[in-house]
Amino acid sequence: MHDLAARALHALDPEDAHGLTIRLLQAGLGPRGGADDPILATDLAGLKLANPVGLAAGFDKNAEVYRPMLAAGFGFVECGTVTPLPQAGNPRPRLFRLSQDRAVINRMGFNNAGLEAFAARLAGARAAGVVGANIGANKDAADRVGDYVTGLERLWGLASYFTINISSPNTPGLRALQTRAALEELLGRLAEARDALPPAGRAPMFLKVAPDLEDGEVEAIVETVAAHGLEGIIVSNTTISRPPLASAQAGETGGLSGAPLMGLSTQVLARFHTAAAGRLALVGAGGIASGADAYAKIRAGARAVQLYSAMVYEGSGLVGRIKRDLAARLRADGFSSVAAAVGTA
Ligand code: FNR
Repeated sequence: MHDLAARALHALDPEDAHGLTIRLLQAGLGPRGGADDPILATDLAGLKLANPVGLAAGFDKNAEVYRPMLAAGFGFVECGTVTPLPQAGNPRPRLFRLSQDRAVINRMGFNNAGLEAFAARLAGARAAGVVGANIGANKDAADRVGDYVTGLERLWGLASYFTINISSPNTPGLRALQTRAALEELLGRLAEARDALPPAGRAPMFLKVAPDLEDGEVEAIVETVAAHGLEGIIVSNTTISRPPLASAQAGETGGLSGAPLMGLSTQVLARFHTAAAGRLALVGAGGIASGADAYAKIRAGARAVQLYSAMVYEGSGLVGRIKRDLAARLRADGFSSVAAAVGTA
């Protein structure tokens, strides 16, 4: 039924459909996942996950529906990106379905209700399950790095983990924070801020990167992340590249996600796995639409995975199908846990 609902939503403008989905979930009309297969239980930088399939950032930008999405069967939910001040984002239309390609292009531009509204909704989240906060900078921030520190400090004790998002293509200049000198300053200030916060609220920090990285950038990012004591990296955000696409809207400006991102983001993940050599917890995102895709990310080095775009086409029942198939694949290959399969490709 929920997958039929997903198809019915396609009669609407994509952003209207998303807004309606959020309201239906808030009204308690989301699907219910059952108990997880014990083979799927795993650990992500100290976070205990009942299963490794997470909801990627951008779906629940304002932390409104993490409870129903946990109930639907996601092992963890990442809310945000949240910026300190509320922000309208780019003019509509800014979200496009590329149905023939099972892809999405978005240039939302961090539209969100701001840190205070987000913090209020996150109260009690840690008791509900593993709920991460993906933090970013306002478009007009005078001190971009300061915006990340503000997000970390305000949400300390509320989020199960933090994601430092420097990889959205829709805030001009943001991805320049991935270059070594800028990353040194950002992660240095964040590590310092974290060390000064009450240890009781301590939560892992992940850096979220773009899949569009030059040779050498992967290694530089890994070394900088490890040097500043972050726990891991999420690979990846959307791509500004355009692999061959069939849909009329392929030329829209923005970040591409969904099926055409699977190969690229998994290759980049494998490069991070090699460079990290076991020092960091990697999360794989980009184009996951099946248990086989999730399994490929794990075999390439991911301890957990995240998805968003495939749900637009398959509905939220997809998470249950992915988990069943992933458990079957682990058993078929003789693995007794998700952790045992990490990086075995
Ligand atoms: C996103 N994504 C995203 N990522 C992020 O860190 N902060 C954000 O606010 C958003 N917003 C957002 C909006 C929309 C409409 C989409 C489709 C995606 C990126 C997302 O979290 C994920 O990294 C990519 O979409 C790749 O995964 P999928 O969608 O191919 O499974």
